[in-house]
Amino acid sequence: MRSLFVIALAALAACTHHEAGEKSPRNGVELGPWLLDPQPTSMTVAWTTPLKTVGSVSYGQAGALDKKASEAEATVDHRVVITGLTPGDKFEYRIDGEVPVGGSFTTAPPAEGDLLDKPFRVLIYGDNRTNGGDHALVVRAAGSEHAVLALHTGDMVVDAKQPKAWATWFAVERDLLAHTPIVPTVGNHEITDHGVTYSRHFKDAGRPTFRALQYGTLHVLVLDSFEQAAGAEPHHGAVSDAQRAWAEAEAKSIPKDHQLWVLVHQGPFAHPVSKRPGHGGSEAVKALIHAVDQIHHVAATFAGHEHFYERGVEEGLTWFVLGGGGAPLDEPDATFPSVQRAAKALSYMVVDVCGCHAIGRAKDITGKTFDEFVLGDCPQACTAPTSAFQPIAQSAADAGTADAGAAGDAGAPAGGAVLPDGGAAIVPLVPAASTTSEATPAAPAPRPPPRDAPSAPAQAK
Ligand SMILES: [Fe+2]
Repeated sequence: MRSLFVIALAALAACTHHEAGEKSPRNGVELGPWLLDPQPTSMTVAWTTPLKTVGSVSYGQAGALDKKASEAEATVDHRVVITGLTPGDKFEYRIDGEVPVGGSFTTAPPAEGDLLDKPFRVLIYGDNRTNGGDHALVVRAAGSEHAVLALHTGDMVVDAKQPKAWATWFAVERDLLAHTPIVPTVGNHEITDHGVTYSRHFKDAGRPTFRALQYGTLHVLVLDSFEQAAGAEPHHGAVSDAQRAWAEAEAKSIPKDHQLWVLVHQGPFAHPVSKRPGHGGSEAVKALIHAVDQIHHVAATFAGHEHFYERGVEEGLTWFVLGGGGAPLDEPDATFPSVQRAAKALSYMVVDVCGCHAIGRAKDITGKTFDEFVLGDCPQACTAPTSAFQPIAQSAADAGTADAGAAGDAGAPAGGAVLPDGGAAIVPLVPAASTTSEATPAAPAPRPPPRDAPSAPAQAK
């Protein structure tokens, strides 16, 4: 009888410890927090709990969490929308509970007014799945950039049906996403459960999987290249006529002097050494972007799906592949004629935007710049210069990658090139040959096989 009593006590202690471990350290927060839907006057704080609760968030500025926003009903998928904020300002927040769990964020700049040329930094990255360690290295480096907005090119997890994969992804991303609102696009790995978990965590219930973001004078069309309503499967992308019509309508609504980017998982172009089924550029996405570009100039398309870095100009479109977020790396075809820069590297990109100006830098996990370029420019000066807008040739020289003569040859004055028509275009300031990362060299590679060459059985990657 005594031994049974001891066993019962041990079981009770274990149970109590489990509950304490579940609720005390992070106020019952299971995943998150992460930040969604960045607007000039509002921000959404998201997190999950194992049990239904009514979530509330305290927030304020300069350490004073003197305001509170709450949900109306108990839920496990929390969305607390903080409203009444001032544009372009930094705020702190904390999920209410016994233990501080929270972070900070900066609201989006307004679409017009005095803050239009206030500089801000955008992080772009993606394809994290499979390798948690490599993913963590990318996130740690990217988090040190202090971007105010993160654009994710898709493929967060290897299999969306696995809760453990999502738990790992959110754990790795925790510090970054607690301070940087994320705007993701759907990857083919996110529809292995028909998009259920992705929608639960990132999709606004009132919007389709494609959406538009306005962030000051920057507009981002977030496309869904694996649109299930159009028949997409994990190994086969698709885009509906409805999505294309929506994109064209959005483009018509954008002021001509505003900058337009496209964020999508499978982009219009990509040139791996070995092309696998369902990879390379998407003809449907390319047709959509060409249609949009006829209405409003598309400054750049940021995509993933291939696990490397590429920058190029093809058919008049400036395109990037940013798939070095942790997934097993593939070999880009650095010799392909339209490819201006390629690297097989764990990597991410930051773009500093100031009004019509935009300067981008691709970096490896040590924070070293291995590619930089002017994405948008205009005769009007950025009137609020920061270190981000120092002459790019000088910053490259600091990093040991500059070729000052080449920058001059490219016609790039301090702060970037002035384009004749004032529009956005890519102006590489450093030739590809001189910017190869020492840590992750982009070795010249043979041309890929013909597109119709026999290939291995389909496998999502
Ligand atoms: Fe993919």
